[in-house]
Amino acid sequence: MPKYKIAWLPGDGIGIEVLEAAKLVLDRLRLNADYIHGDIGWEFWCREGDPFPQRTIDVLKTVDAALFGAITSKPIKAAEAELAPSLKGTGLIYRSPIVRLRQLFDLYICLRPCKAYSRNPLNYKEGINLVIFRENTEDLYSGVEFYPVPEELSEILRHLSPPFSAFGGLGSDQYAVSCKINSRKASERILRAAFEFARKYGRKKVTVVHKANVVRATDGVFLEAAQGVASSYPEIAWDDANIDAMTMWLLKNPSSYDVLVAPNLYGDIISDLCAQMVGGLGFGCSGNIGDQLAVFEPTHGSAPKYAGQYKVNPIATILAAKMMLEWLGETQKAQRLEEAVAEVIREGKVRTYDMGGSSKTLELAQEIGNKL
Ligand code: NAI
Ligand code: MG
Repeated sequence: MPKYKIAWLPGDGIGIEVLEAAKLVLDRLRLNADYIHGDIGWEFWCREGDPFPQRTIDVLKTVDAALFGAITSKPIKAAEAELAPSLKGTGLIYRSPIVRLRQLFDLYICLRPCKAYSRNPLNYKEGINLVIFRENTEDLYSGVEFYPVPEELSEILRHLSPPFSAFGGLGSDQYAVSCKINSRKASERILRAAFEFARKYGRKKVTVVHKANVVRATDGVFLEAAQGVASSYPEIAWDDANIDAMTMWLLKNPSSYDVLVAPNLYGDIISDLCAQMVGGLGFGCSGNIGDQLAVFEPTHGSAPKYAGQYKVNPIATILAAKMMLEWLGETQKAQRLEEAVAEVIREGKVRTYDMGGSSKTLELAQEIGNKL
């Protein structure tokens, strides 16, 4: 009997190729699992009007974890133009499957490790080994947005001080409002996840990222929550920093950071900054984690210009598979896999184009497999 049920969501373009590479190493590790394919991506939008069909959601309800490749997405109008003729004009609107997935399964942690593997030619500096916890459900990404602005909202604005009091008298399409919403509950659970991680893996310090001196209400809630949560972890040092200063300090001295925790938007920004410092898109991996389900993925997209060529770097996805193993409690397999990846990078004999080599996606995966 297979021990685990894993949803397998290749998606589009290079998503298919990098998941093939991940399967190769998971098979070499002899993970005792059933892999259940799930339809997701552009093809299903064009054909059925839904890039994330209900049957895939049903699969996700039954699995222990999922590995996701990448999908192609396009702006609303461009997406409508590619719908099957029978679906055109029916009012279907393209919605990002990954955003829906996070919401549907309450995947409130976005976990992004950024580690500079020794002798990776793309490292910005050696010694970087930090982990980002990004709140994944609210903040400026709440989706609560107004454009055109409804009358009830302009009425509220009329009672504010200038210049915004004047906005209430403007036409409803002359401005827009996006709401940054931060709850104590969501702030506390991402902070707790960060501190728990620090405790479990013996990390020394947690840095809380915010802008509470200016964005007083919402980031104030986040910072207050941090003070409360931190008091339950007296053995772990913590500090806090403004997001703007943080980007500067991260560039100046990235190896002095350990665990970072931030609301959604700031977390998104520092994730990309840190991913680039340890090799960029070919190395950026991520976990979307909730209490019932976790979905692991490379952070890159479907890279249409390389689709079908099997030349992109599979390491981001292989490291996502390693995160999945850790989450499943397969600590030894996760460790073996990471050591194999590190060794292949260190040797530098097999490299994809982004690392200055000419090896193919599956050759690199094979080389990692050979070290297991
Ligand atoms: P992308 O991440 O797909 O690719 C941008 C460029 O980065 C590629 O052309 C390639 O030069 C490089 N690259 C990406 N992955 C690589 C890898 N594993 N190894 C080596 N080089 C790699 O971003 P792009 O081109 O902006 O978007 C393409 C499509 O992907 C769009 O439809 C976009 O909406 C979608 N997308 C999907 C994401 C997801 O599924 N999570 C995330 C980002 C974009
Ligand atoms: Mg991003």
